[in-house]
Amino acid sequence: MADAPTVNIASSEGRLGVLTPGMGAVSTTFIAGVLAVRKGLAEPTGSLTQMGTIRLGKRTDDRVPPIKDFIGLAGMDDLTFGGWDIFTDDAYAAAKNAGVLQNELLDQIKEELAAIKPMAAVFDNAYVKNLDGDNVKSGGTKWDYAQMLMEDIQRFQEDNNLDRLVMIWCGSTEIFLQPTDVHASIEAFEAGMKNDDPGIAPSMIYAYAALKMGIPYANGAPNLSADFPALTDLAKETKSPICGKDFKTGQTLMKTILAPGFKARMLGLNGWFSTNILGNRDGEVLDDPESFKTKEESKLGVLEHILQPDLYPQLYGNMYHKVRINYYPPRGDNKEGWDSIDIFGWLGYKMQIKIDFLCRDSILAAPLVLDLAIFLDLAKRAGFSGIQEWLSFYFKSPQTLPGLYPEHDLFIQHMKLKNTLRYMAGEEEITHLGADYRDHYQ
Ligand SMILES: NC(=O)c1ccc[n+]([C@@H]2O[C@H](COP(=O)([O-])OP(=O)(O)OC[C@H]3O[C@@H](n4cnc5c(N)ncnc54)[C@H](O)[C@@H]3O)[C@@H](O)[C@H]2O)c1
Repeated sequence: MADAPTVNIASSEGRLGVLTPGMGAVSTTFIAGVLAVRKGLAEPTGSLTQMGTIRLGKRTDDRVPPIKDFIGLAGMDDLTFGGWDIFTDDAYAAAKNAGVLQNELLDQIKEELAAIKPMAAVFDNAYVKNLDGDNVKSGGTKWDYAQMLMEDIQRFQEDNNLDRLVMIWCGSTEIFLQPTDVHASIEAFEAGMKNDDPGIAPSMIYAYAALKMGIPYANGAPNLSADFPALTDLAKETKSPICGKDFKTGQTLMKTILAPGFKARMLGLNGWFSTNILGNRDGEVLDDPESFKTKEESKLGVLEHILQPDLYPQLYGNMYHKVRINYYPPRGDNKEGWDSIDIFGWLGYKMQIKIDFLCRDSILAAPLVLDLAIFLDLAKRAGFSGIQEWLSFYFKSPQTLPGLYPEHDLFIQHMKLKNTLRYMAGEEEITHLGADYRDHYQ
């Protein structure tokens, strides 16, 4: 039987607002998807909150409820959508422009989509070189823009009668920035916003506005955004959960599925060459070397952490890892990712694996936005705050507590997520030891 709950979780009743800075391919595919599912036009495939089950107790107990029923999650019907973009296109026009979903589907949810109009963005093209638009706030300091965003959020909440909010960055990848003094404390960061410090990128201003209001924040892109002490401290202070960075879809998802398998079997790796072609706006932004550098950093860390060359020098001490992304307009959102993997086995004998993943980036990312919105809301209601490592499952470059290395192995991430849900619900965590089934030990 279940133990008494160890965590008090506030009720999930009421409406949850999901705010996305950036209303491009990922954001509109997510919104349109939720609307389509609500109308019974499609299934929420790829979403753990909607499709997943969770085993509770022993294998013999036969308790495997759907995740969404056992812990009181916000439902898909409870969500209201809003966001900001530098273009004025409403969500219907933006979804058409992104070209991910078919017009036949979009036309059946046209009215609801067209009603979602982006608020004016906080944007500066110094941070995203290949982009310009005119739905942008002007005439203030970074501090003033943060105040304007907070007013936007408050208005959105009041106009839509919302009980709770979450924010998920679905904007373009900004240039590579490293934390400096201005990111070191809340005070330095606030002073930096008033002085228009160049170290403060637009995504950080959105994150600040959300966290200041106690709203959970997730970063779906690889840029720094909220991954520095000023904002992680603010998150603790205002009891806001945060997580990031960079949705784990496509090629990196495959990497974090395969690499743990090689390591589990003690197979060696000489090299992993990954190349992609994609033709959406994300691809265009990543064509700029400074934005690509942010993405590259995020993609490269994965193998090192999973394979641990320091612990297994004979197997992984000499691996060569390369990632390329090429902008190729004819493919639109339908990316093609090739991997050429050079492994070796018994007595050092070499083998090769080739992957050609004809993937759909935003189709893979949309359910992650949904799950993150729902799980971040759960975390907030459970009184969790600061960095939520149990949501590493969703990210290429998981944000960690200071001094901890990120966990990249998809299966460990999955177990951690489910055990956190069990813990929240006062259920026993599952270790897979199996000692309860006595026969094995006699
Ligand atoms: N699709 C995936 O599988 C995937 C995976 C990981 C990360 N991502 C990241 O998610 C983000 C969104 O991807 P996408 O395919 O939707 O890109 P997209 O280019 O279609 O959409 C991004 C939108 O953000 C807007 N934008 C940029 N800066 C903004 C700002 N400061 N304020 C408000 N709006 C802003 C752009 O105008 C654009 O409409 C990108 O950073 C991408 O790298 C996507």
